[in-house]
Amino acid sequence: MKPKVLVTREVFDETLDYLGQHCEVESNQQDVSLDPETLAQRLKDKDGVACCLTDRIDDPLLARCPRLKVVANIAVGYNNIDLAACTARGVMVTNTPGVLDDSTADLAFTLMLATARRLTEAEAYVRAGCWQGWHLKQLLGVDVHHATLGIIGMGRIGQVIAKRALGFEMRVIYHNRTRLAPAIEQRLNATWVTRDELLAQADFVVLQMPYSPQTHHLIGEAELKKMKPGAILINSTRGGVVDDAALIRALKSGTIRAAGLDVFEGEPKLNPGFLELKNVVLAPHVGSSTQATRRAMAMTAAQNAVAALTGGTPPNLLNPEAKSKK
Ligand code: DGY
Repeated sequence: MKPKVLVTREVFDETLDYLGQHCEVESNQQDVSLDPETLAQRLKDKDGVACCLTDRIDDPLLARCPRLKVVANIAVGYNNIDLAACTARGVMVTNTPGVLDDSTADLAFTLMLATARRLTEAEAYVRAGCWQGWHLKQLLGVDVHHATLGIIGMGRIGQVIAKRALGFEMRVIYHNRTRLAPAIEQRLNATWVTRDELLAQADFVVLQMPYSPQTHHLIGEAELKKMKPGAILINSTRGGVVDDAALIRALKSGTIRAAGLDVFEGEPKLNPGFLELKNVVLAPHVGSSTQATRRAMAMTAAQNAVAALTGGTPPNLLNPEAKSKK
């Protein structure tokens, strides 16, 4: 008998075809998030689930799904999943590292360029029919090239962002719990600094660390005050690493110049204060959203699920200790 898998959100046809070769698939192709009760009902007889960051996989849910062997998240971040609870119950958890690094780094640069050059403000101005002619001082922005880029969180995506900065001839400083190997620092022309040094020196502060209780509100009022007055904050990692209310105050008061945000606390709800500001560029969590990357993410999750359900070791297993438990 084929193992049973639930796909919680709309995926691509080839993802379903692949899963269908190995599993009995039930999928929610309406692409509406399943509420916790419906998710528990649909998951109770399943061996695996391919889920998204909009699905909360926690211990009360796991308790109702005794057959579950694998949770394959269609994302690199997995703060929607209680990893410890999964491990304790012998449920393997996988994510999709690697396939989205370049697209996510591109989006971080998109936000840097759009905030520095006031692109959304400029576009709104043109669309509103306000443009009467060229002015020397019109919509003056700041340069990205040759500026100092500070990256907090220098994992895979942080490093790809640093690589792009070479082309813009930026000075790159970074802060990470563990320092990169000297050869990598040299290749990326990146210098490790303390977090406070980074905040004081960077023209652009880019956040690229995962969300966890330890990184909750890592950037709050105190940190925003430590940034250079003309600096720009970019968050394309996870909502919650920034205190959004404090950021709105800092943007209003001119403590920092601007912010480019792809993620928000409590998204998709947005602090309405952001909508009143011109010096913020807002995007709806689309960092990895290109045709090729989202397809690769879904297929990677499917491959992880199939490996787990056919007795193999999933390539992106986050909790190897869970494997022998069930
Ligand atoms: C991830 O993979 O964690 C992204 O945020 C999904 O869009």
